[in-house]
Amino acid sequence: MEPIRTQYEKYGVENFYLNQGKNYRNPHEEGIIEGIKEGNRIWNFDLRRILDLACGSGEATLVFQDIGCKSITATDPFTGKAFKERVGFDCLSFSFEDIIEGVFDKERFTLIVCSFAMHLLDKSKLMILTSKLAFISDFLLILTPHKRPIIKSQWKSWFLIGEFVNKKRVRVRYYSSLFLTQNFDQFLAQNHSNIIQNSNSLKTTNEKILQSKKISKKLKEPKITKKEKKQQKKMIKLKEKLNQKSKEKLKEKPRKKK
Ligand SMILES: C[S@@+](CC[C@H](N)C(=O)[O-])C[C@H]1O[C@@H](n2cnc3c(N)ncnc32)[C@H](O)[C@@H]1O
Repeated sequence: MEPIRTQYEKYGVENFYLNQGKNYRNPHEEGIIEGIKEGNRIWNFDLRRILDLACGSGEATLVFQDIGCKSITATDPFTGKAFKERVGFDCLSFSFEDIIEGVFDKERFTLIVCSFAMHLLDKSKLMILTSKLAFISDFLLILTPHKRPIIKSQWKSWFLIGEFVNKKRVRVRYYSSLFLTQNFDQFLAQNHSNIIQNSNSLKTTNEKILQSKKISKKLKEPKITKKEKKQQKKMIKLKEKLNQKSKEKLKEKPRKKK
């Protein structure tokens, strides 16, 4: 069989998965299992609500179930059949592009995992996708066979907490959100009860941004482009708007329980 990379080049990513999606299996699965388990040992993931983005046939979902996660939402536009067959429940069929359009805007996750997939996205869409993700999850875990995707720290959406490459040559990167206006706990509190909580997340975010600048210099990341700067301005405006809304919500008097 031809290597997947050659098939991507020959047919295009979308056509490849449209044809092969129902039979998809990742030959690097062992490295993924080890990578997630090692990551959990180091960073102790918050397993309360996970999104498995571009979930394939459930490679990451199965590991997260194994380490104790009880709430996983998975999505992939092409591999629903293979996922159901292997994992036993349905995944959603949303794509990266649907997320950019806003399908998950009202959701909150404690962690988003994207394994062996984000490097497939067109580079021009990476900043907007990752910024969107930073609004809906506290943490992001990327597993990749490459150095890509490069989520630039200058975008100020995700803070790189740590990174390692395991023996099976799977690269694992763990990020914390710099955009989230309410973390998962506050979201739960505001939407499911009326407990008001204080947050010191603003201070920690500023600290993280300062640290990001140092990391960016160290990693010698490619410079932020003009287009990215424009997108960043839009995202910052959106963040301020959401921040304001969230503050107003916090001020609202708790509704009486019926
Ligand atoms: C190499 S597979 C990785 C699957 C799985 N996460 C894993 O670790 O094995 C890449 C996945 O990206 C999905 N994919 C391709 N284009 C996508 C898009 N535009 N949006 C979301 N997922 C996409 C494919 O369907 C495929 O399942």
